[in-house]
Amino acid sequence: MRHLMSPLDLSVAETNELLSLAGDIEKHPEKYAHACDGKKLATCFYEPSTRTRLSFEAAMLNLGGSVLGFHSADSSSAAKGESVSDTIRVISCYADICAIRHPKEGAALVASQKSGIPVINAGDGGHQHPTQTLTDLLTIYNLKGHFDHLKIGLCGDLKFGRTVHSLINALIRYPDIEFVLVSPEELRVPSYIRTDVLEANHVPYREMEKLEDAIGDLDILYMTRVQRERFFNEEDYVRMKDFYILDKEKMRLAKPDMLVLHPLPRVNEISIEVDDDPRAVYFKQAKYGVYVRMALILTLLGINLNKL
Ligand code: NCD
Repeated sequence: MRHLMSPLDLSVAETNELLSLAGDIEKHPEKYAHACDGKKLATCFYEPSTRTRLSFEAAMLNLGGSVLGFHSADSSSAAKGESVSDTIRVISCYADICAIRHPKEGAALVASQKSGIPVINAGDGGHQHPTQTLTDLLTIYNLKGHFDHLKIGLCGDLKFGRTVHSLINALIRYPDIEFVLVSPEELRVPSYIRTDVLEANHVPYREMEKLEDAIGDLDILYMTRVQRERFFNEEDYVRMKDFYILDKEKMRLAKPDMLVLHPLPRVNEISIEVDDDPRAVYFKQAKYGVYVRMALILTLLGINLNKL
């Protein structure tokens, strides 16, 4: 039985295979429409979500399966004090696969250790978000055609942004990748990402504070929201929240083929005037999330694709 806690749980070959399966699903959805007939996906969300939960549910429904679950801690027995370990033991009796989101780092891992079914980490606190990374990779692959030789700018809340941590982990496995990390001093990537991930793997990176200084030579700009829910006090959040606003003027400094990605939800960090720029691909990115999650469910359930 396999779980997905981090993008590194899939080798590069497995990741590429999964992305090509997602590509085939996009082209031939009818081929997969009954691949999960009779199977159930549980979505256990202890934190708010729109895209991740609904795209997981859409993915399972597109495969012919069904979905059950809860969308807040308040509406589950967590409100009565039940542990994640006990909850997953029980969910294992009701469903075939589970996607879990939790505010605590490591919660999905704890669940996987007690689970009788594959567990997918749909975001654990400020730690990892591997299915967003698969979505980001599919977006880059579909719209750029390759993962190597890219200069990638990550901008915003690089400290608490779990999508950023997972994406860096996944991308360093491709050749000639370079990162430009754009954040205020207080929201720099955690030091373990710098030392154990980037430096340990000899991946070139620069840290900058001004987006204007960085944007000009990027191939990809990955914008992120300041993660209000992870701040210790509201004052710090208010000080940081509008630190970056990507607008038309800044887009003028960017290459004509630079792509703007964002895991969404957006707050103020991308002005809505940028939405019409052909380089703004965040809504397409959200759509790709369904195909990768379909591919992931098929893979973790071990569905025999030759029989479809
Ligand atoms: C992200 C998350 O939950 O980490 N959202 C998502 O899953 N698309 C990003 C965010 O909330 O800022």
